[in-house]
Amino acid sequence: MTRKLFVTTALPYANAAFHIGHMMEYIQADIWVRYQRMQRDGDAQREVHFVGADDTHGTPIMIAAEKEGITPQEFVAKIAAGRAQYLDGFHIAFDNWYSTDSPENVELSQGIYRKLRDTGLISTKVVDRFFDPVKGMFLADRNIKGECPKCGAKDQYGDNCEVCGAAYQPTELVNPFSVFTGSTPILKPSEQYFFKLSDPRCFQFLRDWLNTPGRLQPEMVNKVSEWLGEAGEKLADWDISRDAPYFGIPIPDAPGKFFYVWLDAPVGYLASLKNYCEKKGMDFNALLNDPATEQIHFIGKDIVSFHLLFWPAMLKFADHPVIDKLKVNVHGHLTVNNEKMSKSRGTGISPLRYLNLGMNPEWLRYYIAFKLNSKVEDLDFTGEDFVARVNSDLIGKYVNIASRCAGFITKKFDGKLASSLSDNAQAWIKRALVTDAGAERQASIAAHFEAREFGKALREIMEVADITNQYVDDNKPWVLAKDEAKLAELHDVCTTALILFRQLTIMLSPVLPGVAANVRKFLNDAQLVWADTEVSTGAVWNTMLGRTIGAYDHLMKRVEPKMIDDLFDAPAPAAAGAVAAAKPEKAAKAKAAPAVAVTETGIEVIAPEISVDDFFKVDLRIAKIVNCEHVEGSDKLLRLTLDAGEGRMRNVFSGIKSMYQPEDLIGKLTVLVANLAPRKMKFGISEGMVMAASAVDEKANPGIYILNPWPGATPGMRIS
Ligand code: 2FM
Ligand code: ZN
Repeated sequence: MTRKLFVTTALPYANAAFHIGHMMEYIQADIWVRYQRMQRDGDAQREVHFVGADDTHGTPIMIAAEKEGITPQEFVAKIAAGRAQYLDGFHIAFDNWYSTDSPENVELSQGIYRKLRDTGLISTKVVDRFFDPVKGMFLADRNIKGECPKCGAKDQYGDNCEVCGAAYQPTELVNPFSVFTGSTPILKPSEQYFFKLSDPRCFQFLRDWLNTPGRLQPEMVNKVSEWLGEAGEKLADWDISRDAPYFGIPIPDAPGKFFYVWLDAPVGYLASLKNYCEKKGMDFNALLNDPATEQIHFIGKDIVSFHLLFWPAMLKFADHPVIDKLKVNVHGHLTVNNEKMSKSRGTGISPLRYLNLGMNPEWLRYYIAFKLNSKVEDLDFTGEDFVARVNSDLIGKYVNIASRCAGFITKKFDGKLASSLSDNAQAWIKRALVTDAGAERQASIAAHFEAREFGKALREIMEVADITNQYVDDNKPWVLAKDEAKLAELHDVCTTALILFRQLTIMLSPVLPGVAANVRKFLNDAQLVWADTEVSTGAVWNTMLGRTIGAYDHLMKRVEPKMIDDLFDAPAPAAAGAVAAAKPEKAAKAKAAPAVAVTETGIEVIAPEISVDDFFKVDLRIAKIVNCEHVEGSDKLLRLTLDAGEGRMRNVFSGIKSMYQPEDLIGKLTVLVANLAPRKMKFGISEGMVMAASAVDEKANPGIYILNPWPGATPGMRIS
């Protein structure tokens, strides 16, 4: 039977760009998917469908859109447009990326709900809810703030205190207010719709479902079993409704009520698959009903209750065919230096910054894979470890084989591999690919990939690389190449090394798809398939002997440790008070002038992160200083006449008199903030601002330095 795999990752909220935790999950799933795509079941190619989508509904997205003055649909479309750069950038090969705000999701979610209702698992109850009387909207716990009832800390959310950690009800907050309007929330009755998870049918079903072998990791079975209680007594009904205004899917026959975002979010997996099937001309229902189909969710440990209680119960009692096919793979979180990532501590890693620094996405894929196992364990990113692991394994062991041997094939043998192998070479190939006990390593490596034990798979692959390097070290092709009498031996050694290099590439290709694609071209392989790693069939060398290969081009650079310094988010600015306390000499300044936070190294703290869109709001242009003169009555300002290529001159005042003589600036180029609103000053109107640098501690370092571009820039050029 040909396995048909329907694989998903958790659908990210469409209110922000991806963070590194998203990328970790996608990389994990993508490696598994790529491994599966290399497999055949009998004569047939295994079928894999890997889909994702944006999770678009809910209050935060509605409010974020409102703040930007656009519709929620426009807002999520903007977020969706930013996804490809991350997915393509890290080689994440989803077959389809869709949205929970889609006709398919409306139809599927409402269909599931109707079936649940018909089976008696939906109830309604009137409950008191917090309401913002000014905004005319019901409030979630996190839309309410106030003083912590335990420690008195101000500005705490309605569910728990970030200062003392206390958990409480919003009603317990002192002086509660709505985060939207600041008004005092009132309690207002509202009819709510519940999914009756407390119904004994749910407990009976979930207990058996969880315990089906192969469905969940053992630690998850234990954890969720605890949530069920001995006889389901711990299962409470789940409120699945939200009142208008809400960006969501309307509840059928319930005007003004919408599904809570978590009701329709997992249905979004199916909506994306359905949309994909429609695009591909595949039969969605047939796929879901096919006994060969398996559905695999990759999710983080924070959203387990939704996926292991509500979602299976929904599917079961809506009589959905995928319920028996469902497997859920839960991973831990990504930590940095064994701590939870934190922007304010400067331990956050932005995936885009990683790419923009020119860091190779496959380094991260390899590092993450190396640290992943099938358990629900956190995975730690440590800069030094990352550099050491990547440089040692990928450069020192893997790439090194090809870079030491391929050139000789091109130079000495016109790119043609040997057409037979010596006994010694064959013995080394077996030694690399077969264990002492006679087992083919590819089989256990494949089993590790299948079981999502990627770290184990890579360790075993690196053992093959070690043996291959030992072979190259022992036979020293660079020495053989100097002796004309040893050409045949050189041919044998380099061919053998490249045969093993190809093996390594095939086995690494789920992790390093970009490198593998380049190796495939270099070795003239039409495709890299797992079947070619089988020693017993001779597939390992059969097609390689006598083959002509291309010229070797360098495959991968080393990680420069310096890159790691640039990788982390700058720590968020410290509160002015904290800086003043730590640095008494700044205290006076902090009180008198606007507080400026200073880093340990004495520079002004880097401003909070902005988006590229924010940056492009500032229009910076090259401008020529056509004239410059003193300003009568001012001991600080110079008057500049600037040409920014607009066909007119601008008058700009700049506080740089202490540093420059007017005649020294005339004819020079500089940088103008061209779209700053004109400012009326005592001496006239300033039409923009000239950019200049100064130190945070003006007393110790009073200089102010205007910017001057490198030769070649001309007036009017935009700076980005
Ligand atoms: O936690 C989250 O980011 C959710 N948006 C995950 C949803 S997963 C699925 F159910 F859609
Ligand atoms: Zn508190």
